[in-house]
Amino acid sequence: TRRVLLDTDTAGDDTQAVLLAALADSIDLEALTIVAGNVPFEHEVENAKHTLELADAAGDVPVYEGARTPLVKGIEHATHVHGEAGLGGDLVADTEIPSADGHAVDTIVETLRESPGEVTLVCIGPLTNVALALQREPDLDELADEVWVMGGAVGTFGNDTPAAEFNFWVDPDAAKVVLRECDVTLVDWGLCVRDGTFDADTLARLDDGGTPYADFFAEISKRAREMNRERTGEPSATQPDLLTAACMLHPELVTDAEKLYVDVDEREGMTRGYSLVDVNGITDGEPRTRVVREIDADLFERIASDMLLHGDP
Ligand code: BDR
Ligand code: CA
Repeated sequence: TRRVLLDTDTAGDDTQAVLLAALADSIDLEALTIVAGNVPFEHEVENAKHTLELADAAGDVPVYEGARTPLVKGIEHATHVHGEAGLGGDLVADTEIPSADGHAVDTIVETLRESPGEVTLVCIGPLTNVALALQREPDLDELADEVWVMGGAVGTFGNDTPAAEFNFWVDPDAAKVVLRECDVTLVDWGLCVRDGTFDADTLARLDDGGTPYADFFAEISKRAREMNRERTGEPSATQPDLLTAACMLHPELVTDAEKLYVDVDEREGMTRGYSLVDVNGITDGEPRTRVVREIDADLFERIASDMLLHGDP
């Protein structure tokens, strides 16, 4: 069984990735590690625990608290997308579950050191925890089985600014280090817009599901749907973190991927967080980032529906 550490700024679509990973029989979800990002840190921690509780996994999957700010920049949240507490609507998670003893960064380093080549890292928030883990253990990449990252906007527009995707924008210094030091498989924002977005019909079908998971999904995606409806006239919900976890779990989802040199602009200014991608091999940067170019969108929808309507990842 594959072992997985999920690093998350749990709010909105993160919860769906947590749900998928917690419910999947084909992996052992070793722990959640929480990183500063989407919403105030305490809410992220509670959202993670609440989601595990919903998946009936709270007793099996420890939650470790990690970096509360980016490496260099001040923290900025995405409460306008996920709501003040991060669960889309009025729901404020407030569990009785204690966090695990120890720091998320220690957990990442120690888990990978104890089992070289056995543990996959799935990163669906800003990359601060992983960058800090790399400072402690420069061989992190060799110690990991695979490293999956949701972030960046490859050859397309960003979501947080025209130039940048949220996770890379929040901690561009960390993203730069992780892409430089690790063989990452990257699920970028552009792919998620193309192939990882549920349209009005799909959302209506999921809303009719009437299961606890479908109701939870309706709740967490509420704010994002309204935002998209205001923008385009139709509700839709992009699921970057769920897509990342799904691709890790179901490699057949990935129908096209390409190894490219990817760098991140860490400077303040218009292009902060921009992901520079050397498609034409113009620089001598090493093409070590495996960029997912295309996925089987129907299969993704099926995986999400199976989980939300039948509780079966
Ligand atoms: C990323 O930003 C967050 O709001 C989402 O959870 C996802 O990880 C998308 O840009
Ligand atoms: Ca996230």
